Amino acid sequence: MNKLTEVSASAAVGAVGERYVGHSVDRVDGRAKVTGEAKYSSDFTAADLAHGVVLNSSIARGLIQRIDTTKALTLPGVIAVFTHENRPDLAWYNHSHKNKDTPTAHFRPLADREIHYSGQPIALIVAEDAETARYASSLIEVQYAADSHQTSLLAARDNSNLSSETKAIAKKTPDSRGNAAEAYFSAPIKNRTEYHFSIEHHNPMAPHASTVIWREKCGITVHDKTQGPKQTHDFVCEAFEFPKSDVQVISPYVGGAFGLAIRPQYQLFLAVMAARELKRSVRVVLSREQMFTIGYRPEALQTISLAAERNGTLTSIMHDSIGNTSQLEDFEESVVKWSGLLYHCPNVELSYRLARLDLYTPTDMRAPGAATGVNAFEQAIDEMAYLVRMDPLEFRLKNYAERDAIENRDFTSKELKACYAQGAEHFGWNKRTGEPRSMRDGRELVGWGMATGIWEAFQQKASARATFSNDGILEIASAAADIGTGTYTILTQIAADTLGLPMSRITTKLGDSSLPPAPIEGGSSGAASFGSAVMMACEALRKEIANQAIKLKSSPFGRASVDDLAFSDEAIVLKSDHSLRLSLVDVLRCCGKQKMEAEASAEPNKASDKQYSSYAHSAVFVEVKVDEELGQVRVTRVVNAVAAGKILNPKTAKNQISGGVVWGISKALCEEGMLDNSAGRFMNHNFAEYHIPSNADIYDIDVIFVEEIDRKVNVLGVKGVGEIGIVGTSAAVANAIFHATGNRIYELPITIDKVL
Ligand code: MOS
Repeated sequence: MNKLTEVSASAAVGAVGERYVGHSVDRVDGRAKVTGEAKYSSDFTAADLAHGVVLNSSIARGLIQRIDTTKALTLPGVIAVFTHENRPDLAWYNHSHKNKDTPTAHFRPLADREIHYSGQPIALIVAEDAETARYASSLIEVQYAADSHQTSLLAARDNSNLSSETKAIAKKTPDSRGNAAEAYFSAPIKNRTEYHFSIEHHNPMAPHASTVIWREKCGITVHDKTQGPKQTHDFVCEAFEFPKSDVQVISPYVGGAFGLAIRPQYQLFLAVMAARELKRSVRVVLSREQMFTIGYRPEALQTISLAAERNGTLTSIMHDSIGNTSQLEDFEESVVKWSGLLYHCPNVELSYRLARLDLYTPTDMRAPGAATGVNAFEQAIDEMAYLVRMDPLEFRLKNYAERDAIENRDFTSKELKACYAQGAEHFGWNKRTGEPRSMRDGRELVGWGMATGIWEAFQQKASARATFSNDGILEIASAAADIGTGTYTILTQIAADTLGLPMSRITTKLGDSSLPPAPIEGGSSGAASFGSAVMMACEALRKEIANQAIKLKSSPFGRASVDDLAFSDEAIVLKSDHSLRLSLVDVLRCCGKQKMEAEASAEPNKASDKQYSSYAHSAVFVEVKVDEELGQVRVTRVVNAVAAGKILNPKTAKNQISGGVVWGISKALCEEGMLDNSAGRFMNHNFAEYHIPSNADIYDIDVIFVEEIDRKVNVLGVKGVGEIGIVGTSAAVANAIFHATGNRIYELPITIDKVL
């Protein structure tokens, strides 16, 4: 294992020829996606398929007094209606999951007559077609006994008669250092501000859907929208007590996930339940409106206090955040920790609290925690730069952190200074005039703002298998999901370079729970986790093929050792004399094998994990143009310079960063889950009223990948690029709006009414 790791480390930094890794190759799944050949979870079908439609509660809190399904059941084509009154008696409903990491254990669909939030599923109507099921759902009569509810975070925070449910609960955060309150009190320059960020809802292209294929006598095949086929498999087996071998989850394409498909959602449970009860195949698809009844980015109220010397040295950082959770569980994110490590500062105090509201549990959403905490903090940093009369970039450089002061250790690498320099250069930051309202373009005010981004480099244990067949094809297999980030492509690139094959000779199979186990694709950990596993599996296979080649009677390699051989152009060659070669197919033929395969697992290096901290960083520069008469803000230019270790594929990586930037613009200007607190429900649950940018709202986005060679973070030297694009972006937009208008706006989204 150690030996392999060493080999990998040298390969990672370019000792071995990199024909594909590091290059902008096209997506291997691109054709399937644009031709409609790629199948998503609601595309799978079966001859006996029935269709399920979910009915959701219309009250936020209380009890179902009566649910009458008679009319629905008499409608021709309706097969069954499941409610809490006739659902199967699963032991799972009574499991205690307190110490278990079982994602949806806290919410059990159709458990009983209690309502915990508006939109809670209360019935599944199954019919021969989806239209009949939908119509039947309107025929179900429900009587509720409603209780009073609380869905307003502001009210929960300000209400002097806090009920125990809505009282903010303190959560563990990094330790304080120094004495931040005292340093703040005695500082010459200080500023305290409260930020209010709205709830944001996930709106992936493909809505959540599960198709469960009933296989007589041999269990079920589940097609689910999931970031973890293996985790979905384990959830289904646990909830329904299926033997592990009776369930297979197949989910080759996801259709956008961004955190919402980390947890199994209720349509999966209901589809499996119906299939199991009816002994036939069932599909349940959520409507766009129902997508607003599952996870979302929590609302946040953050107070940030900063103090500095007159020369711009930061002396105190205090960051307190309250986020909402549900009555069902405590949903936590890392909101404030970043404020303790982004800048050098001796006095830091961080606190994080939750308030329980009568809403469904929030969930992960692109850069969970950092998108909330860092974006508020970077607005506060910009304001402090103005108070100490420094250029915002200069102020950040003055307070640059060389070490992780929370953990008191070095970084595996940190090229943030290069991000600042290259981003500023490319953007033309030195042409900026610092005074607010000092730049104009005709009738529009022009504002230039910037911010820093950060995200942790994660790796999780993952496995992969590499199989080379005598037809010259290599198959890579892992249960991992590709949520659209380019995972199929980068894994194919890694395999191709490790075994010296053209990418066209490789088939990469993902999204199947029966393949070697892999963790959730989330937290920007996919490239490090699955990539390392694929590299290890291919290296193990390379060793095996090389050993066979040496052992052959007719071997051209004489007494060479494995280390003397290289793999290139579908062959093994002697490093010292490339004319001595043997094709891989010939190796298999000569030893009479149809195929050779190797499986390997990769996991984080525990020793270096304790010794170093590892983060991806970015510097985001934004230009806005503001029409003061209309209050309209256009983000006309963005430069995002990212240091995220080795970039396996600049093209797919750039797609990730650009997507994050678009989301950051959207977060800054558009996205707002609006609650009617008297009804306790989201009112803008559609694309007409929940705003996201259209193509015409997005102008230039330039992504720069700063060179960052990291030999410590993992064998590939990668840090992940899924989340970092959104971190800092909304702050840079808000800071640019201040520069344009002279108005500080502390609430997101910054809608027209706030600009006017
Ligand atoms: Mo990401 S929020 O882990 O999909």
